[in-house]
Amino acid sequence: MLSMGDERIVLKTKDLSKRYPSLKRKDMFAVKDLSIEINKGEVFGFLGRNGAGKTTTIKMICGLLIPTSGGIWINGIEWKNPYSRRSLGYLPEQPYFYEYLTPKETVKFYCQLKGMNKRECEREWGRLSEMLDLKDISDIRIRNFSKGMRQKIGFAIALVGNPELLVLDEPMSGLDPIGRKHIRELIISLKNSGKTIFFSSHVLSDVEQLCDRVGVLTRGRLVAEGSIKEVLHQEIRSVDVVLRYLEEWLINEFSASAQLVHRWEDYVCFKFDSSEIANLMVKKALENSAKLVEFVPQKESLEEFFVRMQITEEEESKRGKLYYSKLEE
Ligand SMILES: Nc1ncnc2c1ncn2[C@@H]1O[C@H](COP(=O)(O)OP(=O)(O)OP(=O)(O)O)[C@@H](O)[C@H]1O
Ligand SMILES: [Mg+2]
Repeated sequence: MLSMGDERIVLKTKDLSKRYPSLKRKDMFAVKDLSIEINKGEVFGFLGRNGAGKTTTIKMICGLLIPTSGGIWINGIEWKNPYSRRSLGYLPEQPYFYEYLTPKETVKFYCQLKGMNKRECEREWGRLSEMLDLKDISDIRIRNFSKGMRQKIGFAIALVGNPELLVLDEPMSGLDPIGRKHIRELIISLKNSGKTIFFSSHVLSDVEQLCDRVGVLTRGRLVAEGSIKEVLHQEIRSVDVVLRYLEEWLINEFSASAQLVHRWEDYVCFKFDSSEIANLMVKKALENSAKLVEFVPQKESLEEFFVRMQITEEEESKRGKLYYSKLEE
């Protein structure tokens, strides 16, 4: 056992790397030198394009893949000790179910695997079916369920035993907006009850709304990490201004220093590159009897940040920097 000496850190990886033996090139890593620390009560979003290494990392954390090198500690206990995962709940990217079982039978089965007796299984099913609203479908076979219902059952399994750390591999993937909203609300309520949540996602708006911190993985490497505020460019990039009753000569004048985005009825929307110019123009518009409807400064969205990270990585790659370290001979 290796203690980290900091009780706030629930999950830690240090120089974590994974190379799949089946990959042809010996220097190709699915995950390379990943070092992260997740604090108690935190929601951490793990971002990356297809094939970036998110699932590989998550599977190593959950003890389903053995790291090639580096370490993982959960509550200070090293991954080699199965006890480290006693309070870990896992939602796989593609949960697998016994199709002929019902949600009730499935959840109780996982309760039994956790060593619960009959009464405890019954109580746990009651708690989870209430939390995930499974009561009405408790006795229907899983093979009949839609993706959204399956995801709920996957969640119920992950929550069996009320684990402190939840590791969720793309929990919103494939869900409709309502389904996504339910999962978002669930994650928020779990956070409010003190749980630590580590999840991967492609749905950037969800990550933006939910996460205290994010990490971005590009070809197995962590290329950025921090609070949303830290990783995004905070300067104002442009200002969207909607005006009403703007006279034609002013519309022409504004069009010279801003982009006319949209015009409808007696409204007009401009995008200004600088907030100073936007302020000056709005002042002039108001002096000429126009009405200000909207003034919206635009900062970098997580989506744009994500694209910027990919570009940076590609540029650096072109400059000859190695992204896959050579496997030491
Ligand atoms: N069992 C395997 N054997 C060989 N290579 C693998 C294996 N599993 C994954 N890989 C490769 O490792 C890399 C990382 O894959 P991984 O599934 O971790 O990515 P991901 O970020 O979860 O992608 P996605 O967003 O598509 O789920 C990819 O290049 C993938 O092809
Ligand atoms: Mg994946």
